[in-house]
Amino acid sequence: MVDVVGQYKKIKKEIDDAALKVIESGQYILGKEVSEFENEIAQYVGVKYAIGCASGTDALMVAMMALGIGPGDEVVTTPFTFAATTETIVLLGAKPIYVDIDPATYNIDPSKMEAVITKNTKAIIPVHLYGQSVDMDPLVRVANYRGIPIIEDMCQAIGAEYKGKMVGGIGTMGCISFFPSKNLGAFGDAGMVVTNDVLLAEKLRMIVVHGSRVRYKHEIIGVNSRLDALQAALLHIKLQYLDQWTHARRSAASVYNRLFAGSGIEVPFEASFGKHVYHQYTIRLKNRDKVAHALIEKKVPYGVYYPIPLHLQEAYSAAGKPKGTFPVTEKAADEVLSLPMHTELDEEQQKYIVQSVLEAVKN
Ligand SMILES: Cc1ncc(COP(=O)(O)O)c(C=O)c1O
Repeated sequence: MVDVVGQYKKIKKEIDDAALKVIESGQYILGKEVSEFENEIAQYVGVKYAIGCASGTDALMVAMMALGIGPGDEVVTTPFTFAATTETIVLLGAKPIYVDIDPATYNIDPSKMEAVITKNTKAIIPVHLYGQSVDMDPLVRVANYRGIPIIEDMCQAIGAEYKGKMVGGIGTMGCISFFPSKNLGAFGDAGMVVTNDVLLAEKLRMIVVHGSRVRYKHEIIGVNSRLDALQAALLHIKLQYLDQWTHARRSAASVYNRLFAGSGIEVPFEASFGKHVYHQYTIRLKNRDKVAHALIEKKVPYGVYYPIPLHLQEAYSAAGKPKGTFPVTEKAADEVLSLPMHTELDEEQQKYIVQSVLEAVKN
């Protein structure tokens, strides 16, 4: 599905030199590498502040902690995403309130959102799934009118745009994952929160180091969620390539689109309001599981993101809803299939992948 080693080999000298420099420096946690990389990400996303943390999951958790979210609070989000969003809401004692998705973009449907907002709604977490922005304007309108902060889960969407603006700087905070397979991937776990709000930035900076500004003086409850200097130094190198890699992903997506043209396969929809960064290239198939099985035999990697919607997950059953509650999500979970998508794909590989899918669909 991804080729992290192939990508590393192309920039091996730069990465190796940067890693060695950090190892020899003896400064492994926070420090200059981290603050410089935070500034670069803030600039890239177009926001004032960026606070490094240990993962995208932690970014979501500390963002909610900075808003003081806890028991009795409700957080409006999507049931069609990776578990981290719901997991962190539940972990803080709050309740996820789901809104079904738009069938074309797979993102939260803003037209269904207002109906679920109550006096207990403390945040809205839209997820820019697969690398495509949520339709943010209607969502921002509702949030501003009700005075509810938005936390953008941009874990899959660094570099994606909404109406010419980078995602992450549209809401109150944006949460980034640098998980190795992400569009900007570290050599391990890493994450970041971005914001324009100085007070939230100050709070976040404390939360990620045990709620402390001065060592051994703990002002608020925090966690240990720091960004390693090594990851920051290596991500700094990779960030210089991100736009080029996004371009490569978008080109690979157009090649897939061209190869599937006329076949009747439903390819990803790119909304006119944004720029998709194709973290995933996801097609839709009525007989998905049969096709997936045939792909295994043809040695074509694939992924199903995500087979079980969050409202049906056993772990969060207290916040769950019966099957049938979110029909658009449930149908997508049965039909989506993501094909290999990364910066090292070539057209020959894509031809083989598409041919394999088409044969599997026919048989
Ligand atoms: C949409 C989404 N949210 C949150 C996360 C969590 O990020 P991490 O794996 O860095 O904790 C991920 C990635 O795995 C993700 O895809």
